[in-house]
Amino acid sequence: MNVIICKDKKAVAKEAYRIVRDRVMNGRAKVLGLPTGTTPEGLYAELVKGYKKGEIDFSDVHTFNLDEYIGLDPKDPQSYRNFMDKHLFDHVNIKKANVDFLDGLTGDIDRECARYEEAIVSLGGIKLQVVGIGRDGHIGFNEPGTSLTSRTHMITLAQSTITDNANLFFGGDEDKVPRWALSMGVGTVLDSDEVLMIAFGANKADAIHGMLEGPITSMNTSSALQLHPNVTVVLDEAAASKLKYRDYYHRIAPGNEEAMLKFLAAARKKAGRR
Ligand code: PGA
Repeated sequence: MNVIICKDKKAVAKEAYRIVRDRVMNGRAKVLGLPTGTTPEGLYAELVKGYKKGEIDFSDVHTFNLDEYIGLDPKDPQSYRNFMDKHLFDHVNIKKANVDFLDGLTGDIDRECARYEEAIVSLGGIKLQVVGIGRDGHIGFNEPGTSLTSRTHMITLAQSTITDNANLFFGGDEDKVPRWALSMGVGTVLDSDEVLMIAFGANKADAIHGMLEGPITSMNTSSALQLHPNVTVVLDEAAASKLKYRDYYHRIAPGNEEAMLKFLAAARKKAGRR
């Protein structure tokens, strides 16, 4: 995994923006997977800013979101769909027809989950999947114990997720947080061509340590990303604070490959290779 450690959460948002803009504008990522939560708010603000400056164009971009609460109407202020409209979709030139979302009010959960999987495949798969991480290591709403090969499914939320989301989005009232959600599975996330994980804050440090340096285990579903060949993790110093190999990650940061190629070219020249 490529690990980029930034000074603070503002720098995390800027670095994540640079990556998303690059993938969208060089044509490699016209199908995006997107997260909700406090983590991507800075990235979405940067995307809106970038769009207004003419740096990024969403006219041919399709999106799938990771998850949605069961029982909430898309117009409900607490729904993830509403969050996305408010933070991103209403402010950029994405076609609403190109936004696909899990329907939290579906009358047939199995069918809705199968539909989502098929819709992703019909667009050739997700090219860039952006994810945050829960305190318990979840990606999407894949709580500890979720199969690492899971596909889009219904999930019962863990208590730590209910507590965190109550504080962040439901005015601290845990009773208002739905107990269930629909979520892409871990296997669905692993099928995307590239994954961009963003995280900041000391409360994510244990989960990040487990993801990068722990064993691959369904007790921290993000650890399954160790099996993915193209993952970039953008962290702030606090989220990176429990990493054992921190110095090494700094060493393999962007610019490393260019330095290696320069070194190799000089060595070849010295050896008389052409
Ligand atoms: P957060 O949630 O961005 O609100 O911290 C992250 C997640 O649960 O994936």
